[in-house]
Amino acid sequence: MANEEYYELLDTITPQIQELMDAHRERRQHWYAHELVPWEQGRSFRTDPWDESQCTLSPEARTSLVLNLLTEDNLPYYHAEIESHSTKNEVLLEWNKLWTAEEGQHAIALRSYLLTTRNADPVELEDDRLATMSTGYHSGAPNPASLFAYTAVQELATRVSHRNAGKLADDEVAYEIMGRIATDENHHFMFYRGVITAMLKEAPSLVLPAIYGVMANFEMPGVGMPKYMRRAVQMAKAGVYNMRVHHDRVLLPLIRDWKIESLDGLSAKAQEVQEKIMAIPSLIDDQATTFERRYGVVNL
Ligand SMILES: [Fe+2]
Ligand SMILES: [Fe+2]
Repeated sequence: MANEEYYELLDTITPQIQELMDAHRERRQHWYAHELVPWEQGRSFRTDPWDESQCTLSPEARTSLVLNLLTEDNLPYYHAEIESHSTKNEVLLEWNKLWTAEEGQHAIALRSYLLTTRNADPVELEDDRLATMSTGYHSGAPNPASLFAYTAVQELATRVSHRNAGKLADDEVAYEIMGRIATDENHHFMFYRGVITAMLKEAPSLVLPAIYGVMANFEMPGVGMPKYMRRAVQMAKAGVYNMRVHHDRVLLPLIRDWKIESLDGLSAKAQEVQEKIMAIPSLIDDQATTFERRYGVVNL
């Protein structure tokens, strides 16, 4: 079974995973959503029903915050997928619990903000949450190398998306909440990036195809959500997350951090994969240029 090699690799790098988790515990910042949410703005939805005229943020900012919230809501599925690939690895199982606990606060903070400030329709938000979560999500990663390459890309993408949504909101509280969340995502990103770095050091020819699979077909985990395409396009036009952002702030930094171009000792097949990975940024760059010609360049 080819996949067994990946699980053996995971066991081999367990000491490095432990170090990464220890470093994360040192680095992580504990924060409290209740200190940031503007509860003083909260009003009863029974006596004072929601109406769009109550919104203070632009439609693009609201869409970005709502889509990012629905992405956070799907946490049980991410937890389950990580657990399924952790098998009996105690260190990874421990990480998955810590990571899940930290992630849990993101939806709490974001939902509390949107409801107290009335920047989301509470009925639509709950209907969308229910639809999203009853659809479920699975990245489809066939092995732990694919999964952790995916989570590395995803955490970095989410970090940028949250930060940009906070900037677009043009509201001090939203900016602070999204900044806090983005900082958490950055720390998670550092963990998952480190897992792949350790895997690459041990078995580059095994890990490169996993990275290629993720980078060539990357999709945010929101694809199954209600009105996903319309919402994602709105966010792309506003510059929160689009191909330019993906190219500049996710793909290039990861290719550089993992030193993909200079990896050596590769099998002939892995060398081909290495070249294919190096060709991805220019493809994405072309797509970004086409999009910008059509909708203009936005820098948040
Ligand atoms: Fe998160
Ligand atoms: Fe995260």
